[in-house]
Amino acid sequence: MLMARPHTPVLFFFIFFFCIPSLSFGAYNVSYDSRSLIIDGRRQLLISAAIHYPRSVPAMWPGLVELAKEGGINTIETYVFWNGHELSPNNYYFGGRYDLVRFCKTVQEAGMYLILRIGPFVAAEWNFGGVPVWLHYVPGTVFRTDNEPFKYYMKKFMTFIVEKMKKNKLFASQGGPIILAQVENEYGFYESAYGEAGKRYTIWAANMSVSQSTGVPWIMCQQFDPPDTVIDTCNSFYCDQFKPISPNKPKFWTENWPGWFKTFGASDPHRPPEDVAFSVARFFQKGGSLQNYYMYHGGTNFGRTAGGPFITTSYDYDAPIDEYGLARCPKWGHLKELHRSIKLCEHALLNGEPKTQSLGPLQEVDVYEDSSGACAAIISNMDDKNGTTVMFQNTTYYLPAWSVSILPDCKNVVFNTAKVGSQTSFVEMIPTDLQPSATALNKNLKGPQWDVFKEKAGIWDGADFTKNGLVDHINTTKDTTDYLWYTTSFLVDETDESFRNGRSPMILVESKGHAMHVFINQKLEASGSGNGTVPRFKIRSPITLKAGKNEIALLSMTVGLQNAGAFYEWVGAGPTSVKIVGIKNGTVNLSNSKWAYKIGLRGELLRIYDTNHLNSVNWESTLRPPKHQPLTWYKALVDSPPGQEPVGLDMIHMGKGLAWLNGNEIGRYWPRKASPHEKCVQQCDYRGRFMPNKCNTGCGEATQRWYHVPRSWFKPSGNVLVIFEEKGGDPSKIRFSTRKVSSLCAHIAEDHPSFDVEHLQIRSIEEYKKKASVSLKCPTSKRISAVKFASFGDPVGRCGTYAVGGCHDPNSVSVVQKVCLNKEECELELSQDNFDINLCPNVAKRLAVEVLCS
Ligand code: GAL
Repeated sequence: MLMARPHTPVLFFFIFFFCIPSLSFGAYNVSYDSRSLIIDGRRQLLISAAIHYPRSVPAMWPGLVELAKEGGINTIETYVFWNGHELSPNNYYFGGRYDLVRFCKTVQEAGMYLILRIGPFVAAEWNFGGVPVWLHYVPGTVFRTDNEPFKYYMKKFMTFIVEKMKKNKLFASQGGPIILAQVENEYGFYESAYGEAGKRYTIWAANMSVSQSTGVPWIMCQQFDPPDTVIDTCNSFYCDQFKPISPNKPKFWTENWPGWFKTFGASDPHRPPEDVAFSVARFFQKGGSLQNYYMYHGGTNFGRTAGGPFITTSYDYDAPIDEYGLARCPKWGHLKELHRSIKLCEHALLNGEPKTQSLGPLQEVDVYEDSSGACAAIISNMDDKNGTTVMFQNTTYYLPAWSVSILPDCKNVVFNTAKVGSQTSFVEMIPTDLQPSATALNKNLKGPQWDVFKEKAGIWDGADFTKNGLVDHINTTKDTTDYLWYTTSFLVDETDESFRNGRSPMILVESKGHAMHVFINQKLEASGSGNGTVPRFKIRSPITLKAGKNEIALLSMTVGLQNAGAFYEWVGAGPTSVKIVGIKNGTVNLSNSKWAYKIGLRGELLRIYDTNHLNSVNWESTLRPPKHQPLTWYKALVDSPPGQEPVGLDMIHMGKGLAWLNGNEIGRYWPRKASPHEKCVQQCDYRGRFMPNKCNTGCGEATQRWYHVPRSWFKPSGNVLVIFEEKGGDPSKIRFSTRKVSSLCAHIAEDHPSFDVEHLQIRSIEEYKKKASVSLKCPTSKRISAVKFASFGDPVGRCGTYAVGGCHDPNSVSVVQKVCLNKEECELELSQDNFDINLCPNVAKRLAVEVLCS
């Protein structure tokens, strides 16, 4: 398990083998042919990692990029997030998390290449697909088609970004890291919905981009009729079968999804590392030369940047680097080994003609030989149930089910995608109580003192406007806030007894989305949310009324705007029908009544979460914060949690709302639970094609309990934590948790292919074969403090539950202790020096180890 900036001898191997051409950036040329990009005259195999700059913080960027590089990545990819940069027409922002130039320079300093997917439509589970909401309100605008205002603003922004990159010398032709640029994003799926105008737009977008003279090729992903001036690329879980439309274009894979995103109220998708590796190996086997993990580090949708509706604040994505910046093992390590193996084949792969040979009904090999005689072979078994033995060049090879073997010298298997030899890490969120800052009052209280400010349900400070009927939510807020109040009132006859003698009146609401709380006479009576077909959700709930005037205040909420689809910018939100039933007058339809509207909350408008505006309201100091109160702001002064580990805010005891630390937007929280009836798995079968719902966990649990608070947002003491709670929670139970690697495991067979990687030469792999070995590495500045389990033999169980089997070398634990204890990292060979190799001769032996890091 690793964190930022590790410096090991292995790293030098990677720099030496993988990154030589990218270390010194003088001006260089980027072109391509049907096989690959040609960088400075040399074909290159590119293994790329998507890291979106606003989904982490600048303090994390160097560590993330280094960890990607250590994982065998040579290229970083990012979208450009238009709505984060052009806040209103011509009003640009490039500070903080949006410091694109700094991000590009971080990549450059690491000696890596960069793919800039400018879009500027990006999808990406990002609010409004990245296009600024204001553009929807420029009269006459239709997004992503042959539409003058859209093209005008799109071109202006693209040109602005390109010029900015040029000014900072970031393109390859200027000695910078950018080798490729993207215009649009998966437009092919939607082009036909726009008719002929869609086709014209595609051509316009390509021409407009190419005319920017960046000196680098342009790509259009999932574009099925690409103009010849751009390269069409594939996005999918598998792209081995992809062929660019023109035979003159190289085969590029811009989005390989190593996991999937989450939505509030749904379970948690995971893609098994064996299958990710399988898809990558298959792609390179079948002639691919550039592959990008979308995402390699997913990160966080801070503030209100999540798209939607309902995309979680976490954008962890089950990616090789987790949301908090830690290597996700074994995924990260397994892919690192894969990258090393593929890179050993690079020259033969890119300079030889493949010869495909069938080795069985579902087995095939592709052999690449270059003019120097170098030979590389990749053998795959597409059988999703059974392993099998195949014969290749007079040698037999065993291939596990759904796996690919890599033979950089056409003889030795250096890697098989289904054999995970790298370490697994167990990561835990360790709770730490909020520590009241010394500057806060009531130092002797157990938790911090919470100051409280209550919002009124409904109109505060006068309505923004009144209108007969229900307006569209998004057209009204223009997304300046999630919240819009719809308020009205109606009279209940003094003589109406129907609701007094046990028969409850009901409120019926139909809404286009996304969520709503219903307040009657200032009391929260019902909530609803949904994203089905229109009406996206209905509320049908008993309510308490009184004789005389009753006030209805509906708090309608967006939870991230639509981020993809044809004409997605026209999808609305908010209630469309409001009725009261069960009173004397029968049904009261309020849908066309006079409604008074208020955009946003008072605390939001006054920015009471911002350290400069904290005192804009009178906070009430409380010894015990009130619980289960809707519409309540809470504020506390807290210390930074001890240690260096990444921090998550534990909101499991809260309802739904927004959180900030020192004015920085942590984002939306909503520990909404996934249904216990969804399909979840205990153990994932890696075999067979992956779909996002194949290997889910967390059924019946909150989709997102912890909310990442970057360490760089904290000062040692006096941190202002502000929470806005919509429906009620228990703030005394809010905690920080630190993310810790509690233990490392490894499980390896004695015949696992192992090589002396620091010295490995492509032509003489055999000489570098060594005994199978296990490497264990703690996160930065941690050491192996205990050996929880070790067994050489036939141990059973999984990481966390290992047990000895029928065959067990009794010295296993003491050997591991001797080699590993008190070290940051260690390597254990499965050799006679360490273990009794001759034990149980008829058993295929393995070593399973679990150690603790502290
Ligand atoms: C793709 C899209 C990406 C992202 C991905 C799913 O279709 O291009 O931006 O949305 O799906 O994570």
